[in-house]
Amino acid sequence: MKSILSRQDCLAQDATDPLGSCRARFHLPTGLIYLDGNSLGVLPRATPGRLAEVVEREWGEGLIGSWNSAVPGSSVGAGWVEAPLRVGERLAPLLGAAPGQVAVADSTSVNLYKLLAMALALRPERRVIVSEADNFPTDLYIAQGLIAQLGGRHELRLLPAGASVADYVAALDAEVAVLMLSHVSYRSGAMHEIRALSAAAHAAGALTLWDLAHSAGAVPLALDADGADFAVGCGYKYLNGGPGAPAFLYIAARWQGRVASPLSGWFGHAQPFAFEPDYRPAPDIAQALCGTPPILGLSALEVGIKQFEGVDIQQLRAKSLALSELCIGLVESRLAGQGFVLASPREAARRGSQVCWQHFAAWPICQALIARGVVGDFRAPDILRFGFAPLYLRHVDVWDAVEQLTQVMAAEEWRQERFQTRGKVT
Ligand SMILES: Cc1ncc(COP(=O)(O)O)c(C=O)c1O
Repeated sequence: MKSILSRQDCLAQDATDPLGSCRARFHLPTGLIYLDGNSLGVLPRATPGRLAEVVEREWGEGLIGSWNSAVPGSSVGAGWVEAPLRVGERLAPLLGAAPGQVAVADSTSVNLYKLLAMALALRPERRVIVSEADNFPTDLYIAQGLIAQLGGRHELRLLPAGASVADYVAALDAEVAVLMLSHVSYRSGAMHEIRALSAAAHAAGALTLWDLAHSAGAVPLALDADGADFAVGCGYKYLNGGPGAPAFLYIAARWQGRVASPLSGWFGHAQPFAFEPDYRPAPDIAQALCGTPPILGLSALEVGIKQFEGVDIQQLRAKSLALSELCIGLVESRLAGQGFVLASPREAARRGSQVCWQHFAAWPICQALIARGVVGDFRAPDILRFGFAPLYLRHVDVWDAVEQLTQVMAAEEWRQERFQTRGKVT
């Protein structure tokens, strides 16, 4: 592992960083080092202006007419009604998806529900969903709820975190309908191989559903080329769409027209404004929509996604790995013997854009760091998590964050009473 150990080296790296200029596109609070863009991305500078425009002009002046034409005098694609698919098309290149397969709607949890139900219905004779015990809880909860609604005939088969492709191949027997995984683990940052696992699932006659919450905008994705069937993900993390931003969903073209949403709302109808009494699904990706789209959230997310235009995703990945390698190198050299155990893969190719440390005092350490202006987060029971959003983070931020961590540990600041209480959101 290559590690840069001096602050001067980090500054030199930043000076030649091909993505260095992207930082100016974001509002970053003074004095704060933000390593939590994998939880809630930062505010793009263009978002407040765009939201003001949507509120004051499109809503305030355009009123109901903005559904068809939000820009006065404009025609196709500019109406609010087109926003779920228009923003989906804008996002598609980041997912490695050809046009017509991505929509923005609802939350990741709701999209998981819709797409898992669609996938199970495509394999009616099979009854097993394979996933990972360490998958994000909402993914498991949604599967459990759906299984109960489907009469309890299905079963969730969970492999331990760290299971290999060979382990999944062994678990993918003739009973498996769907392999449902988070591409990058929220807890460890470990990254699955979409191509190898999709091929293994297909060889077994199963379908794949990927949760890209910690991938979109952070690591290169090639959903079409890698053979993914279905995917979902969050708009408020690396895509910088704002708190509670709508989520995205991907349905491979080969399944469109062959699946039915279990949430057959009118926006998924072939002609919502025909007001027909009977549901008739849209023949395309619009079939996955449900109700009236949240225009303010979609508008903010569209600005977030625009920040990636012109960004070379391979450069983004190279920088993300440089930042995470730097973090690992610095923590292991400067905080050796202080109880930090790397919980993320050491092998770069298997790591997403975050570095997680297991430590018995992860919670108070995280709080003490926040008090010093370094925002990471804590995942129960004992993980200190640092996310690296390559569009706006610098090498020197990582160096300074580790310096603060060193000081927190040296002074045993984390033992202070004020750092022991937990809030509702951690
Ligand atoms: C992997 C993963 N899936 C889903 C979610 C959340 O889904 P929702 O936006 O529905 O709350 C998260 C949130 O952190 C996540 O990490």
